[in-house]
Amino acid sequence: MRSDEWHKRQIGSHTLAPETLMMGYGYDPQLSERSLKPPLFQTSTFVFRSAEDGKAFFELAYVLRQRRPNEEPGLIYSRINNPDLEMLEDRLAIWDEAETSLVFASGMAAISTTLWAYARPGSVILHSDPVYGGTDFLLKKILPQFDVRSVSFNAEGGTDEMRNAAQEAAKIGNVAAVYLETPANPTNGIVDIAEAQRISEELSTNGRRPPVIVDNTFLGPLYQTPLKLGADLVVTSLTKYVGGHSDLIAGGCSGSGKMLEPVRGMRTILGTMCDPHTGWLLMRSLETLKLRMQASAEGARQIADYLNGHPKVASVWYLGLLPTDHRDRDVFLRQCKGPGSTFSFEIKGGEAEAFAVLNRLKVIKLAVSLGGTESLASHPATMTHSDIEPDEQMRLGITPGLIRLSVGIENPKDLIEDLAQALG
Ligand SMILES: Cc1ncc(COP(=O)(O)O)c(C=O)c1O
Repeated sequence: MRSDEWHKRQIGSHTLAPETLMMGYGYDPQLSERSLKPPLFQTSTFVFRSAEDGKAFFELAYVLRQRRPNEEPGLIYSRINNPDLEMLEDRLAIWDEAETSLVFASGMAAISTTLWAYARPGSVILHSDPVYGGTDFLLKKILPQFDVRSVSFNAEGGTDEMRNAAQEAAKIGNVAAVYLETPANPTNGIVDIAEAQRISEELSTNGRRPPVIVDNTFLGPLYQTPLKLGADLVVTSLTKYVGGHSDLIAGGCSGSGKMLEPVRGMRTILGTMCDPHTGWLLMRSLETLKLRMQASAEGARQIADYLNGHPKVASVWYLGLLPTDHRDRDVFLRQCKGPGSTFSFEIKGGEAEAFAVLNRLKVIKLAVSLGGTESLASHPATMTHSDIEPDEQMRLGITPGLIRLSVGIENPKDLIEDLAQALG
């Protein structure tokens, strides 16, 4: 399938930008009846030209031998490979500045398959806290059933907390991975990725360093590139900004071919890959990723400024408003290219006051998820993070008055008017 002409990223010495490459990278129209857009390869299996081809394709897919010069892996079966997914993976790798990418049926499929690929019974996962509720459940309730334990540190606790937790983890067992969610859902707490990389060096045993895995869902590839900051693997819920239209569920994992090799093998056997139709929709979405994320970020900036001055709002956890003396500020400026458009704010009062605001919203929809074209509001303590014990929620800052807002691409003035009437 690979045609080098369609994998060029340069015109002469000029390097093309990701948003330009999203319109056609990796797709040769001559191979598909000159169709401008890649067709949807809605098929479970592919016909081999000969039995010898089938044998060779399986040898490569199951890593039974090394690739011969100029040999390309052939299409076999859509759990193993599919043209839509391969094109999408090539394009996602461009955004993530990765050697390669893999796409999954959901963000949780990407996260769990990646952790299954690296964790072993008796090992420990060192992770930041808070993490998305599903990830929290996986780390604290599912993996321990397989004798994989976890040790956490508060995302806002700085390097000392991370280092102390690393020492504690090393006492319990082999550290299989350092898992970060930065910025964290829903608090926007920031973890220093370069520091995590240094700590992972110190945790090396028998010459094996635990990979640093970063969940980049909140800022997406436009505003943070974890692989350039010291991460080994970046996982993303593509359901959010990358999908961007709240009409699909998918996930991605990007990194070097070597780091992804065990993840690819695990995906093939668990069957956690993305389906072709979702892959096709994601290619459509990637064409407008930059435009959408920029529009949302501009709206979020205006809304955060408005909320920040509101008498009924206790605090606004928007990264663009971090005080100059805040511990996270230096790391934010070094690590992130912008504050993004998902943030939480705390209403004065508690659950009743937060619910009253949520129930009065007219334009902003009351729903979980984030990163879509439409604005969404939710209540982390009783929704996405309700699995976390109440005292733990308070320790992490997930208070009863906290509302999470994902700002879409509507006119920001309309959103401010909506919030004004709901808060009134
Ligand atoms: C930060 C983060 N990571 C992972 C996920 C899980 O993604 P998915 O719902 O696509 O499985 C979510 C979902 O909300 C999330 O917010």
